[in-house]
Amino acid sequence: MTWSEPGSRAREQVPLGPMTSFGLGGLARVFVPVNSSAELSRTLDRARQADLPVYVLGAGANVLVQDDGIDGVVVQLRGGEFDRVTWDGPRVVAGAGVDMAKLTLAAVRRGLAGLECMAGIPGTVGGCVRMNAGGRFGEIGSVVRRVWTVDRGGSRREWNQSEMGFRYRGCALRDEIIERVEFELTPSDSEALMRRYREIWDYKRRSQPLGADSAGCVFKNPPGAHAGELIDRAGLKGAAVGGASVSRHHANFIVTSPGARAGDVIELIELIRRCVAKRFGIDLELEIDVWPRGIAAAGRPGCRAADGGADRRTAAGADMPCCAGLQPMGRGQEPHAAGEGDGLL
Ligand code: EPU
Repeated sequence: MTWSEPGSRAREQVPLGPMTSFGLGGLARVFVPVNSSAELSRTLDRARQADLPVYVLGAGANVLVQDDGIDGVVVQLRGGEFDRVTWDGPRVVAGAGVDMAKLTLAAVRRGLAGLECMAGIPGTVGGCVRMNAGGRFGEIGSVVRRVWTVDRGGSRREWNQSEMGFRYRGCALRDEIIERVEFELTPSDSEALMRRYREIWDYKRRSQPLGADSAGCVFKNPPGAHAGELIDRAGLKGAAVGGASVSRHHANFIVTSPGARAGDVIELIELIRRCVAKRFGIDLELEIDVWPRGIAAAGRPGCRAADGGADRRTAAGADMPCCAGLQPMGRGQEPHAAGEGDGLL
């Protein structure tokens, strides 16, 4: 089946890196921008007929695409009905492709409270709601009233807030793709709200490397602790594999430089997890979405980058406090004991 038919906006072998904030990763076998529910349904039908998995890309703010790319269909909901916003008093309905930062600012300017906790969080409405984005100032799920979805089989459904089952960085959705969301906001003094919005932005600017190529926080905070603080206390700020390094500004951010590969980020993730587990006995869980899932990370390193890692790795290693005592590995050696590090992706 060919996707590049006249009239179709589908393209084949499309680089995904430029569409993500990491700027890394391989090609999508098929990339389809869709701007209506009807076009999304047709795309899901075709993917089913071709027996290809479907991935949904928002603003690419929380995704790491692996270097081998995606042997499937990547759809992006943008333009048309997916960019529409309808205001009705304190209620606002926004398409999944709406830019969260723009919606947040528009709500603040209208004196509608509830979204200001999202200041400084990049992404689309669909992506932010799906992962219940937020932070110390609140989470988006608390102001979601209704969500409209379609699943890979083409069935549509409306969800209310309790059915959505929002939890820390997650919700009850599985296979479903968000098409639009209704938020219930609270009328409020717009000047006070703008001050609050600026305070939250300032906090982010002070504490996070907002200008760098990254996907925000890499790991979820474990119960009762902050991943950034644990990584920092493990002495890993500045630790690097190839072009990926642990931010010196906020240790739960991995930042990349030109020439980095997604595999560098994966190796660094493994290294961080290994070191934090060894030092604190805590298994850090990924917050970012790694595509495709379930594929072994290149090398599966312990506290070393595998296969030539010694020269790619610039800062972390056996000299780091948490890694002291780990045996350096030579080329071709097993990167980890059986079972270790399994289940990361
Ligand atoms: N800390 C360190 N070293 C660091 C970073 C942080 O010691 O390198 C300490 C801080 O000093 C503070 C504590 O860790 O005492 C928490 O730091 P922060 O306030 O930055 O909060 P966080 O838990 O690291 C969470 C969200 C962020 C969100 C911020 C602010 C998670 C995993 N992260 O970060 O969300 O921006 O709160 O609201 O829940 C994201 O989801 O991508 C993200 C960046």
